[in-house]
Amino acid sequence: MTRIGGSITKVACCFILILMVSFGFGGKVLALTDDECLDCHGEEDWTTERDGETISLYVDMDMFNQTVHAENGCISCHEDAAEGEYEHPVPLASVNCANCHDQIGEIYENSDHGKAALDNHDELAPNCDDCHTKHNILPPDNKKSSTYPLNIPLTCGRCHREGTEMTQTHDLNQHNVVENYSMSIHGKGLFVDGLIVTAVCNSCHTAHNVLKASNPESSVNRNNIVETCDQCHVGIVNKFKTSVHSKAITSTDKKLPVCIDCHNSHTISRVSQKDFRLIIAEQCGNCHEYESETYFETYHGRASMLWGGETTAKCSDCHGSHNIMPSNDDGSMINEANIVETCAQCHSGANQSFTTYLTHATHNDRERYPYLFYTFWAMTGLLVGTFAFFGLHTILWIPRGLIDKIKGSGSNGKKTE
Ligand code: HEC
Ligand code: HEC
Ligand code: HEC
Ligand code: HEC
Ligand code: HEC
Ligand code: HEC
Ligand code: HEC
Ligand code: HEC
Ligand code: HEC
Ligand code: HEC
Ligand code: HEC
Repeated sequence: MTRIGGSITKVACCFILILMVSFGFGGKVLALTDDECLDCHGEEDWTTERDGETISLYVDMDMFNQTVHAENGCISCHEDAAEGEYEHPVPLASVNCANCHDQIGEIYENSDHGKAALDNHDELAPNCDDCHTKHNILPPDNKKSSTYPLNIPLTCGRCHREGTEMTQTHDLNQHNVVENYSMSIHGKGLFVDGLIVTAVCNSCHTAHNVLKASNPESSVNRNNIVETCDQCHVGIVNKFKTSVHSKAITSTDKKLPVCIDCHNSHTISRVSQKDFRLIIAEQCGNCHEYESETYFETYHGRASMLWGGETTAKCSDCHGSHNIMPSNDDGSMINEANIVETCAQCHSGANQSFTTYLTHATHNDRERYPYLFYTFWAMTGLLVGTFAFFGLHTILWIPRGLIDKIKGSGSNGKKTE
């Protein structure tokens, strides 16, 4: 009885299945539900070996159900897992996020990360899931997301931290980026104060269009840097665009400075900090060699090199920083109309005559400082002349003194009558 009953049940089941396939799911793929995937993939300690790496085949549904793709279901990403009826083919094709996120997919495809991963099959270059995770994808404003600002340095740092296999096998122009960033004003703002509006890696590099600095399209290319910082430092950029260093004001073949020439990229510090103040003359000096050299011959410059010298005047204390103009422009801090005020920042009681102190004066430059040049040589001439005259005088005097001594010994050289 039970045998026959069992057979009848089996036949009935097959019949129902055939009906389901031909009517219920007519033409559509017989898709497995998420629950069915979990019959197998819900087993917590199920792992497998891939290229020497142990990967977990377990998917945590409590976690997955919190993510942006919870509604989509497993086969929205693992399309070919739906090909079998219960057991799917192995290996499955890799997931293509760009099927749905086509715009981001296209940007990524043309980025250096995308080219390395897709064209060069660089195992160490990031795919979408290296930054977003596989099954824990959350929106960037969710605190638990790998793309939440506080977590970005970790996400990028997995590969870009100094010493990883990636940094040891790839020739990148900058080293210790994550370490330097962490010590910078932006990094400290993030890690110490939890300031999420500060600059993180993707604020400057973008998330999906990461390109080498030498690429003219890159957000960190010299020509685009001002715009990149302008996302946040709007007031400063507005000021900068009216200064002699801006392309909008000065047309020159010479290299004009952009934000990172004076502030750097990953080591940006608070500008009141000693290190920044002490290095600024060198930064300006990279382009204004003459003024930098002559500055170091002045009191301010020499004192700068001594301990505690950060209080003396630096280039930017007299010329400004983002508002620099030539001295003949009335917006310049060293223009006749403003210079007293400029010196008075530190020299209370400074007046017009105090300001005639020549800031870059040097005695070696006849063209620029003729008075100094001629005065220097006149004084030097006088000094040398005086010494030469008296030296000669002394040398000539020696034999005469000797003769006198021999002639008049015992009488102290005095002649006796
Ligand atoms: C009957 C059990 C079973 C079911 C049901 C099942 N899988 Fe699998 N799955 C496996 C096995 C077996 C492997 C291969 C494990 C290995 O490589 O050792 C696997 C591997 C995978 C892999 C990794 C494939 C690869 O190429 O590395 C993915 C992704 C996957 N399954 C997704 C799914 C999805 C999505 C579903 C539901 C639509 C599903 N599986 C349902 C048994 C199952
Ligand atoms: C947003 C897309 C997405 C969804 C939805 C998704 N996965 Fe995955 N899954 C991935 C990616 C990406 C990988 C990494 C391998 C690859 O690229 O093919 C992966 C890998 C896997 C693996 C292989 C083990 C591993 O960690 O590499 C299994 C098993 C798996 N998924 C099962 C599931 C199951 C079960 C579901 C539904 C609960 C699911 N996936 C839903 C994107 C997804
Ligand atoms: C079947 C289509 C589909 C696939 C494949 C897919 N996604 Fe999504 N994704 C969506 C939908 C739908 C949303 C929710 C709507 C939205 O916010 O855009 C979403 C949202 C997201 C979000 C959050 C967007 C936001 O602004 O909140 C991220 C991040 C994301 N997906 C990344 C990925 C990654 C990474 C992959 C591949 C591993 C992937 N997606 C694969 C359809 C898909
Ligand atoms: C190098 C790391 C990285 C890679 C690789 C990456 N992303 Fe992102 N993605 C991010 C970061 C960081 C954010 C959040 C900040 C932002 O949007 O600038 C983000 C945001 C997103 C968003 C939501 C916000 C938006 O712009 O709409 C989606 C969707 C997304 N990524 C999908 C993808 C897809 C699809 C891929 C692969 C084609 C991918 N990402 C590759 C880092 C990455
Ligand atoms: C999975 C590892 C990995 C992750 C995660 C990763 N990168 Fe990269 N990155 C690479 C590799 C590999 C290269 C070299 C690509 C090449 O050969 O052009 C690279 C190159 C770069 C470059 C230089 C461009 C170039 O072509 O030399 C920048 C800038 C960069 N990454 C920034 C980021 C940022 C920002 C993040 C996080 C949002 C990030 N990376 C996350 C692996 C990674
Ligand atoms: C304030 C903006 C800013 C932030 C924040 C920032 N970078 Fe950069 N990064 C730059 C600039 C500008 C350059 C190019 C510098 C140059 O060429 O002198 C650069 C260069 C790089 C390079 C070398 C690129 C090449 O062409 O070889 C890598 C890699 C890199 N950054 C990764 C990161 C990572 C990872 C983070 C986060 C920990 C980060 N950056 C944070 C601005 C930034
Ligand atoms: C020619 C060198 C130079 C350039 C180019 C430059 N800065 Fe500055 N920046 C300085 C100096 C010097 C200070 C310190 C000013 C002070 O102590 O009053 C400063 C100060 C700052 C500050 C602190 C706030 C303040 O006003 O004191 C920020 C933020 C800043 N710069 C951002 C930028 C950005 C963004 C750019 C690009 C648009 C830029 N800088 C271009 C030299 C420069
Ligand atoms: C996403 C927004 C954002 C971007 C992009 C950004 N910054 Fe900042 N930056 C900040 C914030 C916020 C602070 C204040 C941090 C603090 O006080 O802890 C800051 C601080 C600074 C300071 C120190 C100011 C001081 O008071 O001494 C300098 C200098 C600076 N940024 C320069 C730059 C330069 C140069 C760039 C472009 C390469 C840039 N920043 C890009 C948000 C940004
Ligand atoms: C990357 C190179 C570069 C850096 C760094 C730089 N400058 Fe300049 N600066 C220029 C160029 C180019 C001009 C345009 C003058 C010209 O056409 O000869 C200029 C013009 C000036 C002028 C106007 C006078 C003149 O000769 O036209 C002053 C003053 C000046 N810079 C001061 C500074 C100070 C102070 C710093 C540091 C805080 C600084 N510069 C940093 C390249 C630079
Ligand atoms: C104590 C104030 C002071 C300091 C510090 C200072 N300068 Fe000057 N600078 C002046 C004055 C005043 C002039 C105009 C008269 C002159 O040439 O001596 C000038 C002239 C210049 C000029 C020519 C500008 C023009 O419009 O003719 C440049 C360029 C310049 N300085 C750059 C620098 C650099 C670079 C540094 C730092 C290495 C620096 N200055 C430090 C006050 C200063
Ligand atoms: C950022 C502050 C600062 C600014 C701006 C500044 N100085 Fe000074 N200066 C100092 C300090 C500090 C000393 C050394 C302390 C002292 O002995 O007074 C000094 C010393 C001097 C000295 C030699 C010592 C003395 O007191 O006779 C002269 C001359 C001088 N400054 C002229 C100027 C002139 C001219 C200007 C304007 C073009 C100027 N300084 C702008 C800070 C500044």
